Amino acid sequence: MKILGIESSCDETAAAVVEDGTKVIASAVASSLELHAKTGGIIPEEAARQQIKSILPVLEETLEACTIENIDAIAVTVGPGLIGSLVVGVETAKTLSLLWNKPIIPINHLVGHIYANWLDLQKEIPMFPALALVVSGGHTDLVVMNSHSDITWIGGTRDDAAGEAFDKTARLLGLSYPGGPSISREAEEYIKSAGENLEMKLFPRPMINDNTFDFSFSGLKTAAQNVIQTPHEQSIQCLAAEIQESIVDVLVTKTMKAVEKYKPKSLLLAGGVTANKRLREKFQQEAGKDISLYIPEFKYCTDNAAYIAAAAYFHQTPIAWQNLSTNPELTITDFQF
Ligand code: KG4
Ligand code: ZN
Repeated sequence: MKILGIESSCDETAAAVVEDGTKVIASAVASSLELHAKTGGIIPEEAARQQIKSILPVLEETLEACTIENIDAIAVTVGPGLIGSLVVGVETAKTLSLLWNKPIIPINHLVGHIYANWLDLQKEIPMFPALALVVSGGHTDLVVMNSHSDITWIGGTRDDAAGEAFDKTARLLGLSYPGGPSISREAEEYIKSAGENLEMKLFPRPMINDNTFDFSFSGLKTAAQNVIQTPHEQSIQCLAAEIQESIVDVLVTKTMKAVEKYKPKSLLLAGGVTANKRLREKFQQEAGKDISLYIPEFKYCTDNAAYIAAAAYFHQTPIAWQNLSTNPELTITDFQF
């Protein structure tokens, strides 16, 4: 079964065709990132305008690899995300559904991220029960998946998301948007030059030892601000490494505590922050042999439409195009659109 996925929830415009939820036949992503780098963050109206410009070229590129007749369904992100951006993908999907007479499968963007772990797999498909850590620009959630349709939320951030913590502290350091890749680049240099026995303990690890699976990252931003705005001897690279270490340490420690409690068969990482090399390395070190660790390929960590099409294969609940609308406020356990 071939599904055409469409994703337009934020500043990426993407289309993809995926076969049977795993094999990527085509995937195209246009990003308005460079534009937002100029303003140091996303201006929603500008992101929406860019979505309109990019949606048809991205679809055309994708459909070069697979003709319309061979597509069985259209999957589209309905939320969460920026309303102006989401509308572009949803209205496009409705139009194509009407024109081509294909069913539409609405997809929750956060659930979609998890399915990046099913794409172009080099090993067996993830087994349930699975624990998933979803870390993106706007969300940080830990969920237990007993099956594709049985997802239980066990914890999440009480304030800023992990990606947001990277983005905001990068801004304080004068690094470019998006902050995650910028901090990661600077930190890598520092770690390389400082060698193996590196102690990185400058910043707090909020909520690391409490008995919930919740997170809090806004205090880190304040702690970083206090250091940056007073005379200090640390270089930008050192501060970037310290910030990254604090975020990574909390994410890994709490996720591994959840692994201990729920004893899942698979651990699935998802969302843009999982492109972080330090985070990937730490999870690889921590995950023992009793659990199968899945980390998406770099190109599937940040927003794309391949995971939307994959998610749709495992959540085949088509709805009539007339009933489809955006839902910017969805949470990770919302399936009723
Ligand atoms: O999932 P995503 O592409 O978009 C949302 O759904 O939000 O995630 C974007 C977030 C941004 O906050 C960005 O700074 C972060 O992912 N990110 C990273 C890295 N690459 C992207 N964070 C840390 N290290 C990275 N290498
Ligand atoms: Zn995302």
